Amino acid sequence: TGNLKIDKDGVLEISGVKSAHLANEYGTPLLVLDEIKIRENIKRLKNAFDSADYTNYEIAYASKAFLNTELCRILQSETVSLDVVSGGELYIAFHSSFPANKIFFNGNSKTNEELVMALENDAGHIIVDNEDEFRNIEKISKRLRKKAKIYFRVIPNISPDTHKYISTGQKNSKFGIPFDDMLELIKSIKNSENLEMKGIHAHIGSQINEPEPYVELVKTFFDLLNKIRGETGVVLPEIDIGGGFGVAHSTFEKSIDIQNAIKRVIQEVRFLSNKFHYPSPKIIVEPGRYIISNAGTTLYTVGTIKKTENKKYIVVDGGMADNIRPALYGAKYEAFIANRPKDKTNLEKVTIAGRACESGDILIEETCLPEIKPGDLLAIPSTGDYTYSMSSNYNGFLKPAIVLVNNGKHKLITRREIYDDLIEKDIENSEWR
Ligand code: LLP
Repeated sequence: TGNLKIDKDGVLEISGVKSAHLANEYGTPLLVLDEIKIRENIKRLKNAFDSADYTNYEIAYASKAFLNTELCRILQSETVSLDVVSGGELYIAFHSSFPANKIFFNGNSKTNEELVMALENDAGHIIVDNEDEFRNIEKISKRLRKKAKIYFRVIPNISPDTHKYISTGQKNSKFGIPFDDMLELIKSIKNSENLEMKGIHAHIGSQINEPEPYVELVKTFFDLLNKIRGETGVVLPEIDIGGGFGVAHSTFEKSIDIQNAIKRVIQEVRFLSNKFHYPSPKIIVEPGRYIISNAGTTLYTVGTIKKTENKKYIVVDGGMADNIRPALYGAKYEAFIANRPKDKTNLEKVTIAGRACESGDILIEETCLPEIKPGDLLAIPSTGDYTYSMSSNYNGFLKPAIVLVNNGKHKLITRREIYDDLIEKDIENSEWR
């Protein structure tokens, strides 16, 4: 858990800031993002390419894992690109003056409005999911006199049965375009003034910890690139292998060895480029959780403590509204006491529950903690990914504040919601029509 340290008084610090201090300043639940971790994760990814001496690559952070204005700025300063999937994510990017030519627009059913928004603002890398969408992009870019850079999302048929991944790349997936349809489209736009064909894209799934599925994907890609070249004469210069690099959400889990995974991908790319006399493609990756997961720690204050016949519940002031992953995917986390030294002798088995009116709102099913009292502060690390971005106002809970920490300093980057946020969109005395 890297950035979390126990200081000389035995109290939990995040990047040099006492967690109790953060809780006092900003309240709880609080999402604490560590800027140094974010930059380290990016650096590790870049190093993986650099140490294999492959300069033709681009990292497009998958916004869906988490996005706000400040993160856009950090990514921009690291010259990382952005993968967005909606007008909403586009809006955050534009609002943060994120360079439009570094935005990749994914999604399996982009609306015309969203496509206009992207193209008008020159967010021109569009990953085409299907034929209808392709036609729309063609029409819109013609009307706006823009040139869209097109990638085709292919269906790689990498089976989720052989690899137990959260899979999106299998047959009958709702994502992607069948190969024959893609060939027809490529033939039809060979000389288009408004579309520039850049490459093929696939995302095989999430929490992938081994290099093999990515190597498989590269093989599939070259097979397709070769066929495309053979049948249409078009040489596509880029491949986008998607995201999904696995992270550990607790000390019981493993994360991917990114250095090795990227090395293996590059080896395969080099080998197949040589074999087929195909120009070395640009490699695009779309990691989400790999960049943000371990940069996030959630701080909760303990409320009710309850003993049942066989269980002891520690109820915190958040839960599934700010982190739905345990309830939705059975995701496993670990909690640490954060406001006082850990008593290593008096550990007891407890269940950390949220305060939503749902039995399923359990953050951690069973964990060992020293005796906890109401008012204590708990920290759950590795909660940067798919927590805030999937949060809701269920039960009228307010979304947490987000604070950025960096080596002893801290600043608020997203304010906590207030009750007025809950009624702001409601219209009183609306007229019947
Ligand atoms: N690219 C595409 C096209 C994707 O669909 C995704 C994730 C990513 C990149 C980034 O994947 P990552 O590197 O973050 O694993 N809510 C779920 C995860 C859903 C991921 C969907 N697509 C969770 O909390 O585990």
